[in-house]
Amino acid sequence: MATIGELLSAAVERLRSAGSDTPRLDAELLLARAVGADRTGIIAHPEIEVGPGAAAAFAADVDRRATGEPVAYIRGVKEFHGIALATDERALIPRPETELIVDTAVDEVIARLGRGAAARQGSRIRVVDIGTGTGAIAIALAVSLRRRRLLEAVEILATDVSRDAAALARENAAAHGLLDVVRVEVADLLPPLAGSFAIVLANLPYIPSATVDVLGGSADHEPRLALDGGADGLDLVRRLLGILPDVLEPGGVAFLEIGADQATAALEAARVALPDAAAAVLPDLAGRSRVLRVGTSAA
Ligand SMILES: C[S@@+](CC[C@H](N)C(=O)[O-])C[C@H]1O[C@@H](n2cnc3c(N)ncnc32)[C@H](O)[C@@H]1O
Repeated sequence: MATIGELLSAAVERLRSAGSDTPRLDAELLLARAVGADRTGIIAHPEIEVGPGAAAAFAADVDRRATGEPVAYIRGVKEFHGIALATDERALIPRPETELIVDTAVDEVIARLGRGAAARQGSRIRVVDIGTGTGAIAIALAVSLRRRRLLEAVEILATDVSRDAAALARENAAAHGLLDVVRVEVADLLPPLAGSFAIVLANLPYIPSATVDVLGGSADHEPRLALDGGADGLDLVRRLLGILPDVLEPGGVAFLEIGADQATAALEAARVALPDAAAAVLPDLAGRSRVLRVGTSAA
């Protein structure tokens, strides 16, 4: 029987020559899945022998990865903002950069509660996550608020134009015990009569079509609908900005993920759609522009 260390070494070489940028990480995650351990256990015990069943399962997963299939789809799970989300070909694999929108939304809810916004209105703070995919933003926000015992303060709608993605988001909401808090609906941006929201969150597709054509990597396996933002990438962002005046409550705020090179175009689009709103671009920890913030003034 081969040891963990021997299986890992062979798989790392195989995945490196197949073109993976992260062959060791990939191999560790896949071997951990095959033996039913976590990755730290794999790293800590290279001397342990792996049984034939687990070794065969690992070999099959390495074959899939060598064809370019993303590790998150092979494992069926992706960690995002400290939670595990079921992940498959129905939706985009949640990216770490999207965690900024979750953190920003948590801060916004806390700030609004500090100002007594919900209490004044005698209602919950209405939040919508448009283009929810796996449900990543909506569910991570709800989990963060539950940890702070603030879940009662919000009502969260999550939408996606893809039926498949919406089904996956519902499965993830159920897995986190949030089906009664995160309502998932199939809609082109928003369902009719959705009402208005204090906080609008969206990570809509923002990659220019021509770039999607040549991205490669995990994008070859992810739904094009989740990536393709039209000629300059901002078609969906512009459409959403166009309806924001009807969707945002007075004093409401929207946080939209954008590409690091789209700050100027996104700010211009916001100025055109909402000339009286305050628009700004928020940087991530590395200083890259990642989130367009658009706030309307209170009534
Ligand atoms: C970049 S993915 C983001 C998924 C998820 N929010 C995340 O951050 O992982 C964009 C999502 O928007 C959805 N989408 C595309 N066009 C849409 C539209 N017109 N209305 C609602 N959702 C849309 C796609 O199906 C996809 O799930």
